[in-house]
Amino acid sequence: LRPRVFVTRQLPGEALGRLSKQVDLSVWEAELPPPPETLLAEAARSDGLVTLLTDRVDARLLASAPGLRAVSNVAVGYDNIDVRACTERRVAVGNTPGALTETSADFAFALILGLARRVAEADAYIRAGHWRTWSPTLLLGTDVYGATLGIVGPGAIGSAVARRARGFGMRILYVGREARPALEVETGAVRVDKATLLAEADIISLHVPLTPATRHWVGRGELAAMKPGALLVNTARGGVVDPVALVEALRDGRLGGAALDVTDPEPLPPDSPLMTLPNVLLAPHIASASHATRGRMASMAVDNLLAALEGRRPPHCVNPEVFP
Ligand code: GLV
Ligand code: GLV
Repeated sequence: LRPRVFVTRQLPGEALGRLSKQVDLSVWEAELPPPPETLLAEAARSDGLVTLLTDRVDARLLASAPGLRAVSNVAVGYDNIDVRACTERRVAVGNTPGALTETSADFAFALILGLARRVAEADAYIRAGHWRTWSPTLLLGTDVYGATLGIVGPGAIGSAVARRARGFGMRILYVGREARPALEVETGAVRVDKATLLAEADIISLHVPLTPATRHWVGRGELAAMKPGALLVNTARGGVVDPVALVEALRDGRLGGAALDVTDPEPLPPDSPLMTLPNVLLAPHIASASHATRGRMASMAVDNLLAALEGRRPPHCVNPEVFP
């Protein structure tokens, strides 16, 4: 009997073709995620799920899915999954670290440059027919070369951003739970406390997972402690920043600008104040969105799932204690 697997969206590349040779596969073909009740019903008759960060896997879903053995997230982050509840039910959870590191760091740097040098504003300015002449005061921005970059979370992606920053002659500060001596040697990054990073960084880039400890890591107090005019770049998770405090700081000009690949909520409602603030650069959660990387992520997710369904520990498992 082939295991039954539900995949919550069509995935790029050949991974699902490979999966379909080994399992009884069902793929949700719509553009929008399956509604929670649909996901619950599918989980109830599945041995494995391939999920995205838009799919909530919680205790209620798990309680109705006694046959479920694996949940494989096509993402490095897994805050959409109640991992503890999965572990209690011996459901393996997989993710895709490594595959998206450089691609996501490229995009974080694109946002840093795009925000500091007002790339999207410049494009909109021309398209709106405003360009009359070269002007010494047109669209003045902030220099990235030589600026101080504050990296919050020097994990794989944060470290890859630091390497890029080194090429831009940046002074690099970081806050993290552990010192990163290799990163310090390679990039000249200096580990500091939170207060120092907030006070000294011209540009702050967030690279922490969303956990109870990092929720609203940037709140009203942190925004007030930042250098006036500092730039904030978020490619981590929207919930790491307090959205109300963010809009306040952008409106009163204390924060120079924000580039957000992730927001809280996602998608942003059409009436979000972020949509009308000129010093905000927005992207629809696409930091890992290159053809090659999304194909790799799908492939890793399938490898993780197949391993778990065979009773083996997946290559990338966030709760390996499920496999004694
Ligand atoms: C994307 O946000 C991911 O976690 O992979
Ligand atoms: C992110 O931290 C990764 O491991 O890719």
